[in-house]
Amino acid sequence: MRIPESKIEEIRNSISIVDVISEYVQLRKRGKNYIGLCPFHSEKTPSFTVTEEKQIFHCFGCHAGGNVYKFLMDYKKISFVEAVQEIAEQQGIEINYDDEGFNEKQSEQEILYDINTEVARYFSNNLLHDAEGEIARTYFQKRNLKIQTMRSFGLGYAHNGYENLVNFLKEKNIDLEKALQLGLIGRNNDGRVYDKQAGRIIFPIFSPNGRVVAFAGRKLREDDSGGKYINSPESIIYIKGRIFYGLSHAKDDIRKLDKAIIVEGYMDLISLYQAGVKNVVAVSGTALTDDQAQLLSRYTKNVVLLFDADAAGIKASMRSIEILLKRDFDVKISTLPKGEDPDSYVTKFGKEAFDEIIKTS
Ligand code: UTP
Ligand code: MN
Repeated sequence: MRIPESKIEEIRNSISIVDVISEYVQLRKRGKNYIGLCPFHSEKTPSFTVTEEKQIFHCFGCHAGGNVYKFLMDYKKISFVEAVQEIAEQQGIEINYDDEGFNEKQSEQEILYDINTEVARYFSNNLLHDAEGEIARTYFQKRNLKIQTMRSFGLGYAHNGYENLVNFLKEKNIDLEKALQLGLIGRNNDGRVYDKQAGRIIFPIFSPNGRVVAFAGRKLREDDSGGKYINSPESIIYIKGRIFYGLSHAKDDIRKLDKAIIVEGYMDLISLYQAGVKNVVAVSGTALTDDQAQLLSRYTKNVVLLFDADAAGIKASMRSIEILLKRDFDVKISTLPKGEDPDSYVTKFGKEAFDEIIKTS
């Protein structure tokens, strides 16, 4: 039985090695790594290391080491295929054993990740260093975001115009067809390609491992006739129901505090994070999905829902509760004073006041 290489990678990328090993070994964070007592030999002081960044483990005592599959194989004494199947099953990823074209798919995904990374860097650069980016810098500053926060969330700005990004992509020899697939650019009836996020502020959306899978662009100008947010369409690297905005930033704190606060919007999450409330994820306006609940259950089983108190927010809360309860979460609901959202509240009153609200939920 052969599993396509691309699938093996996709499955591996769908989880963090730290989460998987945490289920079997008690890990503590040390610097960039996690350490614990090695399960492969007997020891009293920890020499077993897990590196999130490289997605590998290594024991300095007995020299066991490898990726997440190797860990499961050695720990559970199972085969490679079984290890892959185990994670696939946990993540709800279906394995198609038909191996046609798998090599192409593998590199296809990598190409798309690389394009997004380049484009994210371009947008970020526009925001932080470009003259036209001033309008976006001013906007974010008015909303009390620090430069440091803009950097850590990779926020950006897309130049206003028809083909600024298109020209950047051409300069970098990036395949425009792939950029179309990612929804970075669009194509007119007459075949001409154009920038889709022109004149907008940009929020890159990260996978749990911190790779850029999509972008959201928020309207900044009055004369922009598009919707408030333009979000990337789904692609082979972006399946909406499986992504939580902010999870790659929040997961350590969610695990540490054993609690996740779920908010609706990008700005809510970023404002809370900047104020020091870091165990937050955002559903990004859609209802919570079962895949998201499953993803979150790897970090905690305790959730506080903090949705807007409007009709849409209440409806979304109800649906989300149902989904979370089915997965055995302990769910609490928090409400903010009328007219406040998490972003405005924490910005005005600070972390302590916010913590109080969460505590009394
Ligand atoms: P909000 O309208 O509350 O936006 O939508 P926001 O993020 O708080 O933005 P600000 O504070 O007004 O600038 C909540 C979330 O719903 C999704 C986005 O994820 C947004 O963060 N949304 C909203 C969309 O995807 N598209 C839209 O047109 C509007
Ligand atoms: Mn808001």
